[in-house]
Amino acid sequence: MYFVANWKMFGDLKTLNSLDNVIKFCKNNKKLKSKIIYCPPNTLIRPLSRRLKKTKLEVGAQNCHESDNYGAYTGSVNAKMLKSVGAKYIILGHSENRQLGETDKLINSKIKSATKAGLKIIFCIGETLKEKRNKKTKQVLAKQINNGLQSIRNKSKIILAYEPVWSIGTGLIPKSEDLIKSVSFIKDKFGKKCPKILYGGSVNSNNIDQLKDINILDGFLIGGASQSSKKFIDIIKKTFN
Ligand code: PGA
Repeated sequence: MYFVANWKMFGDLKTLNSLDNVIKFCKNNKKLKSKIIYCPPNTLIRPLSRRLKKTKLEVGAQNCHESDNYGAYTGSVNAKMLKSVGAKYIILGHSENRQLGETDKLINSKIKSATKAGLKIIFCIGETLKEKRNKKTKQVLAKQINNGLQSIRNKSKIILAYEPVWSIGTGLIPKSEDLIKSVSFIKDKFGKKCPKILYGGSVNSNNIDQLKDINILDGFLIGGASQSSKKFIDIIKKTFN
C-alpha cells in the first residue's frame, strides 16, 4: 500500500519536527510493508530527504517545469533539479495545477522529463463535478490517460492517482460503487500492465474505514490530513485494522 502525503503549499523547517512521530511509528511497526512518501514544497525537499535518511520514508515533489535543461524560466525548477536535492517521486497533473491552465500535453511533457530524470511519477487524473453530473467521467479519464501518457511505452515508473476534482479538499468522497466503477474502468483500460492506482480526495481517518474496503486500490494520496502526523498515522493504522 502507498500512502502519499501531498503537503501542497504548507510547512516550514519547524514543521518537519512533526515527522519524528511518523518515523517512530514506522520503526515500531517493522512489519509495515507500506510505502510512505512525503511530497512537501520544494523548499523542504532537501532538509526532509536528509532527515529521512536511514528510514523507510521517501520524498517526492509536487510539480516541475517540463524542460530537461536549465533555461530562462523565472520561478521554475525542473525534474533533474528536484532529483538532485533528494526527490524520488513527483506528483504531476494535479487538478489544482490543471485548473491553473496545465493541459494534458504539458503534463505529458512533464512526465517525460521527470521519467528521464529518474523520478517515479504520481500521475493525477479525475473528473470535475460538472463532468460527473453529465456522466462524462469515463470519457474524461480516458482522455487524460491517453493524452497524458502519449508515446510513453514503459509505464513501470508510473503510479496513477484517481482524484475526483470535486472531492479534493471538500470533505466529500465518491460512493464506493462509483469509485469501484472508475478504478475498474482505469484498470480495464490498461489491461494486464496496469500501474498501481491510488485514490485521493478528502481521505481522512473517518472515511478510511470505507475506503480501505475497496481492495482494488493500491493506496491513497492524502492532502489536508497528511499535514498532521497524528491524522496521517491514524489513516495508516486503520487501513490495516
Ligand atoms: P485533500 O487533497 O486530501 O486535502 O482533499 C488531496 C490532494 O489534493 O491530493
